Amino acid sequence: MQKKRACTLRADQSHNPPISSDLLHRAETYIAERAGMAEEKYRHTYHAMAPVGWMNDPNGFCYALGKYHVFHQFHPYATSWGPMHWGHYVSDDLIRWELLPPALAPDMPYDKDGCFSGSAMEKDGALYLLYTAVADGKQQQALARSLDGVRFEKLGIVIGEDDLPRDCSAADFRDPYVFCRGGKYYCLVGCKHADGDGAVLLYRSDDLVRWSYVGRAWKDGRTHSGIYECPAFASFGDTDALFVSPQFLESDGVQYENIHANMYLLGRLDLSTGEFHRTSEHEADGGFDFYAAQTAPPLPDGRIVMMAWMQMWDRSFPTAPYGWVGALTLPRELTFREGKLFQAPVREIERYRTDAVRCEEAEVDGTLRIDGIEGDTVELSFELDLGASARAGVKVFSGGGSETSIYYDRAKELVVFDRSRMGTLIKTAPCEHDSDVRHARIRAEGNVLQMRLFLDVSSCEVFLGGGEQVMTGNVYSEGKGIEFFSEGGRATVRRVEKYTISVPHGSPKL
Ligand code: FRU
Repeated sequence: MQKKRACTLRADQSHNPPISSDLLHRAETYIAERAGMAEEKYRHTYHAMAPVGWMNDPNGFCYALGKYHVFHQFHPYATSWGPMHWGHYVSDDLIRWELLPPALAPDMPYDKDGCFSGSAMEKDGALYLLYTAVADGKQQQALARSLDGVRFEKLGIVIGEDDLPRDCSAADFRDPYVFCRGGKYYCLVGCKHADGDGAVLLYRSDDLVRWSYVGRAWKDGRTHSGIYECPAFASFGDTDALFVSPQFLESDGVQYENIHANMYLLGRLDLSTGEFHRTSEHEADGGFDFYAAQTAPPLPDGRIVMMAWMQMWDRSFPTAPYGWVGALTLPRELTFREGKLFQAPVREIERYRTDAVRCEEAEVDGTLRIDGIEGDTVELSFELDLGASARAGVKVFSGGGSETSIYYDRAKELVVFDRSRMGTLIKTAPCEHDSDVRHARIRAEGNVLQMRLFLDVSSCEVFLGGGEQVMTGNVYSEGKGIEFFSEGGRATVRRVEKYTISVPHGSPKL
């Protein structure tokens, strides 16, 4: 353990006035003028998303000062990544998000090149944000505070380059995740080790201002040219979960098929040495578009809820011509059982169900449409009895020559999410094998698999086996058709339930 350092804020506002105090005001005005002007095409209706411009990671997801808050990486002025601001929404139910003015703009000498990802914590009636301040090639962790939950005052760098162990570099030192245990604050930060590999470091503080280095939480030699971005942390009884987004992780069979991966490690974080003792490792979402997942500190009712960026780096973005890129996944409640985390959309989503259609049982031999089951803002759940079929599942967003299928391949014991016929081409980096087909390994106990899908205009989140596996993908199609199908033999769908999800002013507008 390193010795505790006498720490003062090294960049507090009094010594370091904003370089351009109107950057935040400029962003707010720009957003207000343009809100509602992004074209509706492909825009989601019940997912948190920016009114205009580019967004990536969820940041500062928490319950504080009587509301749920989620912030996000935001470049309002373009549909490409740029100098990072923090967008901000609040909600009373985790589903209807109200847009607030941006919380942070890169307006200080120490964050002039961007306010990168970070997390939030309520303390003594104030909402604190811990974020990565980027300037002149250096990444350091800075603190901001709000008393009203809307306007933030920057307090300066609190974990700086001097707080790095000698074998890590401030060029890649980012995404602080703050949490509280036993009356102390802890913070996990991603960084690059001198050997080129990613690592996650642990810091400790009594007051969120003075931090000392505890030790290295994680490093396993697998990120090669990248780092572990966006750590997050949650405990489920005696089991801890460390979430990380490893860049350029090599795929492992059907796991980690995306160019950048998402995973959680289960085990125990030793708060005195900093070391995370892993007992198992899991991909958090086996779909196409899921990155930088962040858990909120336990909600007032004890739930652990996670949101992620519903996109992926290094691909083309078909919504860019319409003035926006990026959205967050549905908030997902996590429960620990059978040695892994199960995910379910927060139950508040059920308040927004309308137009129920139910069907007890129907045989599928070839394709089957059920009256009333169609649409693109839909929750659809069913049990799939695979019968004698080789493959069986559902096609969504079908029509006009395009379709996307999610099906079980019995021989391979895999669920396949195939968007290769969605009608829109997504270009991807040469090192990503494809961005058309993803797989999730899951056993259909008793030859039956449970599926629950959430479609939202251009997104599809698939919860399999009660949330044991999840696959998330964006689907850019014109069709709204839904049909069940089987190949190589008959299957049966049971307990089919379909709802339209209708959230008034779902995607935030000013
Ligand atoms: C992850 C990430 C973070 C960084 C942020 C910048 O998607 O690369 O590591 O803080 O995005 O926008």
